[in-house]
Amino acid sequence: MADTATPTARIRTQPARIDPHRIRADFPILATANRFGKPLVYLDSAATSLKPKAVIEAVDGYNSEYSSNIHRGIYEIAERATAAYEAARVSTARLINAPEAAEIVFVRNATEAINLVAYSWGRRNIGRGDTIVLTEMEHHANLVPWQVLVQERDGDLEFIPITDDGLLRLEVYEALLHLHPKLVAFTHVSNMLGTINPVRELTEMAHAAGALVLIDGAQAVPHIPVDVQAIGADFYVFSGHKMLGPTGSGALWARRELLEAMPPFLAGGDMIREVHLRRSDWNEIPYKFEAGTPDIAAEIGLGAAAEYLMGLGMDAIRVHEQELARYAIETLRREVPGIEMYGPEAGDRGGVVSFNLPGIHPHDVAQILDRSGICIRAGHHCTMPLHERFDLAATARASFNVYTIPEEIDALAVGLREVVRIFER
Ligand SMILES: Cc1ncc(COP(=O)(O)O)c(C=O)c1O
Repeated sequence: MADTATPTARIRTQPARIDPHRIRADFPILATANRFGKPLVYLDSAATSLKPKAVIEAVDGYNSEYSSNIHRGIYEIAERATAAYEAARVSTARLINAPEAAEIVFVRNATEAINLVAYSWGRRNIGRGDTIVLTEMEHHANLVPWQVLVQERDGDLEFIPITDDGLLRLEVYEALLHLHPKLVAFTHVSNMLGTINPVRELTEMAHAAGALVLIDGAQAVPHIPVDVQAIGADFYVFSGHKMLGPTGSGALWARRELLEAMPPFLAGGDMIREVHLRRSDWNEIPYKFEAGTPDIAAEIGLGAAAEYLMGLGMDAIRVHEQELARYAIETLRREVPGIEMYGPEAGDRGGVVSFNLPGIHPHDVAQILDRSGICIRAGHHCTMPLHERFDLAATARASFNVYTIPEEIDALAVGLREVVRIFER
C-alpha cells in the first residue's frame, strides 16, 4: 500500500518529527562550556528556555536598526517599530489560535497576566462569600494573586486535590462546582509533575456550573499545541521566556467581551483615548491594558519565538518531548537505583521529570551535577503546597525543550550515579 501512496498521502500518514540535533545549531549558547570546560547540558527549560538565533536577531534588529517608541512617532523607524510590535501580536495570537490579535494583551510574564486578571476582573466580580476554585498543583503565580484577592474581598478559595499519581480528582472537582464558584483557575501543564490537565473537560464543567475559567499556560504553550477556541477558555496566560522568547515578554489572552468589560489594571500613557484634568476615557483593547512604554524589543522577540515554534510544528514538538519524558523515566529508573520520581507514568505527560535520591538533598544533587555542566533545578519550583501534598521539602527537576537530546538524559543518569557514589563514600 505504502508504495502506491501519493507523496502527499505519505506525508499525511507520517507522524510529524523534529530533529533536535539539527535544531541545536540554532541555539548559540549550546556551543558554550562551563568553567571546567564541560559542554552545557541544559535541563532546566521549565525555569526558562534557551533562545534561538531568530529571537536574538529579532531583538538585536529592533535595538540596532529601528529602536524607537511605538504608536506615536510619525517617522520611518517609529512606524517600523509599531508594525513589528503589532506583527508580534498577530504571531502570538496565531500560536494559540486566538480569534483576533486584539485579544492578546502583552505583559511581562504569566505572573503579571494573572495579577492583571485578579486586579481588574477580580476586584469587579469577586465579593463577600464568592468562591474561586484552584488546584493543589498550582504554581505560586496562580495561587498568591487569588489569595490576595479573596483576603481583600472576603471571598473563599477551594482546591481540587490530586491523586498520588499527580492527576486531578475530577469527582471532587464536580462536588466543588456545586458551590457555584465565580472562577476556576488551573494550570494546563504542571511544572513539577508534568501532568497535562484535561483542560477542555475542566472548562466545560466550569462553564456548566456558571464559572469563568483561567488557564495558566506557562508550561503548555512552549510544548504542546494550544487552541484557546477549542478549549473554550475565558482567560489564558503564558510567559515568553519559557517558549524560546525573551525575558520580559508574555501574554494574556481573553475573550473580547471580557477585556472590554474589565477596567484598566495600570493607568497612564497609551491606555487612554482622551484625557481631561479630572477624567479620562480608555483606549480600545488591547491598548487599554498596555499603559506606558512596553518592552518593545522583548515582545518583538516573542513574535519571533512564536514563528519559530510554529515553523517546527507544535505537534512535532509534542511528540519529541513526550518521547524524551518516556526515555528519561525509563533511563533514570533503570540506571539510578533508589531514585524516586513524581507525577503520572510516562506517556501522557509533559517534558518535566521531578525526582529525589534517597537521603541526598536536591541542592547537593544540583551542585554536583553542575561540575559536569549539567543544569537542573532544585527546590520547591514555586509549588510549595504541592510539595507539602507529597510530604516533600524539595525535589530535583530535569525539564526539556526542542533542543534537548537523549544523550543529555544519558549524561544526567551518569551524573546522578556519580552523586550517589560520592554520598556512599
Ligand atoms: C506553571 C507555571 N505558571 C506560572 C509560572 C510563572 O511564570 P513567570 O515567572 O514567567 O511569570 C511558571 C514559572 O515557572 C510556571 O511554571
